[in-house]
Amino acid sequence: MIGDDFAELKLFITGPIMLRPEVRQAGLLPEFGHRDSENLKRFESIMRNLMIIGGNPEGYIPVIFNGSGTNVLEASVRSLVSDTDKVLNVSVGAFGDLYGKLSSSNGKNVELLKFPYGSAIDMNVLEDVLTQHKPDVVTFTHNETSTGVINDVVAICKLIRAHGALPVVDGVSLFGGAPSTISEARPLMYCTSTQKSLGLPAGYGIGFVSDEALAKAEKVQNRGYTTDILAQVSKARLNQTLTTPNGTLGNQMCVQLDYIVNSETVDGRFKRHEEMRSIAHAWVETMDDYELFAQEGYRSPTLTTVKTPDHMTIDRLKEVKEIMRGHGYLFDPGYGKINKELQEQGSSPIFRVGHMADIMPDMLRDYLKTLGEVLGGFK
Ligand SMILES: Cc1ncc(COP(=O)(O)O)c(C=O)c1O
Repeated sequence: MIGDDFAELKLFITGPIMLRPEVRQAGLLPEFGHRDSENLKRFESIMRNLMIIGGNPEGYIPVIFNGSGTNVLEASVRSLVSDTDKVLNVSVGAFGDLYGKLSSSNGKNVELLKFPYGSAIDMNVLEDVLTQHKPDVVTFTHNETSTGVINDVVAICKLIRAHGALPVVDGVSLFGGAPSTISEARPLMYCTSTQKSLGLPAGYGIGFVSDEALAKAEKVQNRGYTTDILAQVSKARLNQTLTTPNGTLGNQMCVQLDYIVNSETVDGRFKRHEEMRSIAHAWVETMDDYELFAQEGYRSPTLTTVKTPDHMTIDRLKEVKEIMRGHGYLFDPGYGKINKELQEQGSSPIFRVGHMADIMPDMLRDYLKTLGEVLGGFK
């Protein structure tokens, strides 16, 4: 039968993630009509719980977009950057670059500010660029999944606003694993998705849209249709989606968000992620010649990036991946483009340990123990 040979791997990549058995089970719940009263039974609870996980930010509404994180990022660009605006895309890695690509491919007037891989956004450099370029809108990544860096979203949003610009944030790999700090940072819009720290399959992007964003979008022409936050919000206010949602994911999300809020608790979930970050860091300390890659003080709570010793190569990391597969794990050999660039500079590659969503500390310890043994075989 189709699927009989599908491997049951424990995913330690950085999304998609392992699903709790209850979430898999929820995939069997009945399909429903998205304009029927049955829709409300799922999405009323989903919207309420999204707000709770997001810290109940006043003046924001959660919107569910069909697609994935990229669709919400694109909607933010299409709806919030006008033809006469200048948008500054601040990047600390591949996903910061993605915001730049979304801006330029939508014909926006773009400046790109890039920081070296592993570094967080440097506030002094950002301040200089804000002064020099005077952008109207600034995008940046809260948690850079390609490098394992978390930026100080509150301080950065404050700085951007002090220069008269409007911040827009990509929180894709953070939301659900650590505080998004939307209330304190007050971005114009905060974007995320289902398949990372929320512990769900991919399929929806999620945007926290501020009242201020709605007022701004009124003045932006050619917002598209599915990328128009005004059209999206009109349906979100009814606890609906603009276009037909994936009903299976709707059922799973209803069950999972209820679990996060009412069983694990949001605080408990955030603390578990902090504990897993500590476990990953302590493990790297035990690994001779391996080092934490991300800048100290800016290391992600949902994934850890590890710099390998000189003898390690991209091909060897691929071998590690296959050996780990034999142990029942999916290992993450690092972000391809970044490792290629590091190799071209004569530097050894990095790998990533995803510790997000519903991975438990003991599962992570077991994984790292096996990984340590496997890496020990490469000298
Ligand atoms: C920080 C970040 N932004 C954006 C994306 C793109 O999201 P998606 O793959 O859900 O479209 C990702 C995906 O890994 C991500 O990690």
